[in-house]
Parts: sequence; C-alpha cells; structure tokens
Amino acid sequence: MKTCKHFNDCGGCRLQDILYKDQLSDKENRIKELISSYRPGLKLNPINPSQSHFYRNKMEFTFAADGRVICGLYSKKQKGKVVDLEECLIFSKDAGKLLSKVKEFVNKLNYSVYNKYSHQGFLRNLIIRQTKFTGQTMVAIVTTSKEQLDKDNLVKELLLLELESPISSIYWVINDSLSDAVVFERKKLLYGEAYLKEELGELSFKIDVDSFFQVNPRMSVNFYKKIRDYANLTKKQNVLDLFCGVGSIGIFLAASAKFVWGIEAAKAIVDMAWQNARENKVENISFIVSDVRRFLNTQKEFYKDADLLVVNPPRSGLSNKIIRAILRFSPKAIIYSSCNPEAFFRDLEGLKGAYKPDFIEPFDFFPHTPHLECLSLLKPV
Ligand SMILES: C[S@@+](CC[C@H](N)C(=O)[O-])C[C@H]1O[C@@H](n2cnc3c(N)ncnc32)[C@H](O)[C@@H]1O
Repeated sequence: MKTCKHFNDCGGCRLQDILYKDQLSDKENRIKELISSYRPGLKLNPINPSQSHFYRNKMEFTFAADGRVICGLYSKKQKGKVVDLEECLIFSKDAGKLLSKVKEFVNKLNYSVYNKYSHQGFLRNLIIRQTKFTGQTMVAIVTTSKEQLDKDNLVKELLLLELESPISSIYWVINDSLSDAVVFERKKLLYGEAYLKEELGELSFKIDVDSFFQVNPRMSVNFYKKIRDYANLTKKQNVLDLFCGVGSIGIFLAASAKFVWGIEAAKAIVDMAWQNARENKVENISFIVSDVRRFLNTQKEFYKDADLLVVNPPRSGLSNKIIRAILRFSPKAIIYSSCNPEAFFRDLEGLKGAYKPDFIEPFDFFPHTPHLECLSLLKPV
C-alpha cells in the first residue's frame, strides 16, 4: 500500500503503513473489547468504512524556520519539530501545489516566522479547507500583526494555481494571542466568497474559515442519514440536539420532526447554525447559545416535551453533572455519538441504570489515525 513520503516523520497520521482493511478490523476489535467490559453480548453493527485517502476537508499547517520558511505538521518523532510537507494523502491532491506556492511566496518576501517562546515573528499557520462534494478551496494565512502581508500578490500567485478544487476564498487571519491554538482575532477576506458551501445529501451547509465542521464530509452524509433512520421520528415528535455545532444533525432531523432545539456554547457557531437552517429553508428549528449543563439545569420549560435527545459531545465526553441532568430529564430515547470510544463507553456506563443501548455502530471518520466515531440508540431500561 502506498504511504505518504512523509509518513516516517509526520505526526499527521500514524496508521498509514497498515492496510486499510486491517485498520478497520483493529478498530472493530477495540470496540469489541470495550463492549465486553461494558455489557457482553451487546450488538455491534458493522463498522462504516470511509474513502481511505483524501477524505479530510481541513488542515491546519504550521510555519517554521529551517534556514528558510517551511510549512507542515508536527513531527511524531521529535517534539516541537515541524515536518516540511510536499503532500498530504489524507487531505487533498491539491495539498502539494498549495503548500509549495505559499512557501515560495513567503520565502521570496523574506517574512519572519513566529516564535512561540519569544512571541516575535510574523507567519504562524496555513489553514486550507476544501469541500468534497462542491469542489471549492479556502486558503487562510495566519500571521501576527508584526509585518504587512503583500495581499495582492499573494492572491495573484495563489490564483495562478491549477487545482482540482479551485480557490473560492482567501483569508488573512491575524492572531497576536499567546495561545498555541489558532485564535481568529481578526479575519480579512482578501478574495472571493466569505464561506465555502458544502452539499451533504439534499442539504447545503456554509463553512466559515473558523467554524467547526465534521472533517470527513463523505462519511458525514452516511452518518447523518443513519441518525435519521435510527431516530425514526414522526412529525409529532420534538428533538433536543445537545452540542449542536453548526446544526447539521438537527437540520437533517428537522424534516421528519415537529420541532428541533439545538444547544451550543459558541455564539459564532450558533450564528452559522442559523444561517444553515435558513440556507436549507428549515423553519422548525431553533438554536440557543448556552453551556449544555446550564441549559439542562435552568431551561426545562424549553425541552420538557422533547421526545428524542441527540448528544454529540466534544472528545472529553459528558461530565457527571451533565449525565445527572440527562437522567433527571429522562427523554424517551437518546442518540449518542462520540469521536472518543473510551469516553463514549464511560458515558454509557454513567447512564446504565436508566438507559440501555440497542446497538453500537462505529463510523471510521478518521482513516490512518486511531480515532473512531461511535453511535448508539439508547432506550429506557
Ligand atoms: C463534536 S462537536 C458537535 C458537532 C455537531 N453535532 C455536528 O455534527 O456538526 C461538539 C460541539 O460542542 C460544543 N461545546 C463544547 N462544550 C460545550 C458545552 N459545555 N456546552 C455547549 N456546547 C459545547 C463545541 O463548540 C462544538 O461545536
């Protein structure tokens, strides 16, 4: 099997040297083990495989200095070292051309690279997002405010590229924060559309430079459709979608539900969820900016009639307080999914006295990495 030329050093993916079918059976075995310590005999549905290469819709590369400016991902061998990349097989066939053009441009202009210890320097990250169904590319160069970017020439140079998915937007993001993470303090649209538009099945979603969107859209369509099938809603039923992000699950479910409430902590993400609902002409949905625990503890009036609870938390899973709040609410059914199998089973354990899963179904959203999404439909015991 072909591995990427950077595989030995790049920390972007760790399992590329294992045949994809073997990765899938290793992942299935891991879930079987978790099932055997949670509830032996619980039904495990077959794992949903992904397209194994070029599946990711977003990469966040880092600039570094190595005699010249390089750009890539952190090494798996040497902490803090950036591996200069020429290709990325989990992302896009266009990755090499884009990386090489940006590196050529920043080296020609002699920009400095940000140093996270001294907080000096200019270039920080290169974010590239690419839709898989509509074939659009967004490029965002992330810098401090310490130098001036030659915006016009950057745009001109990038637009010369012949790509499978042409560039539809170019951003300059300014991040002076001390945090290692990309903080979108100021974003300037240098070219094109403010958003990418991705099509998932019959629905269409806007993706901003800074919004969360599932990284594997081809898999997302399958995942959301399965959630809709398992939810098996009637037009009389209401849904509460916790950790709703940009609203994708709720928007998928709305056509077969009476009403959907989506709860999400980040206001900017909720703004995007509203835009997505409008974009798809979905009117029986509403979003609330709130911490989930706070919402469950204070807003029972909103959700006491919800028939189905959808829970898709971040990697850390649910806190004991959220689990207790869910138990107090006692929905008629729960669809729970998580990208962290250990947290997923820990949370099922927390709900065990009151809810029993019908099955566990894994979705391989992240080939060549150890990550795995698990889905379950839980009913009261
Ligand atoms: C795994 S993502 C959910 C994605 C979403 N279901 C989708 O399919 O697009 C988790 C989301 O939970 C939000 N979040 C994290 N902690 C939260 C909290 N305590 N209360 C509300 N939302 C939270 C994050 O901002 C993120 O958008």
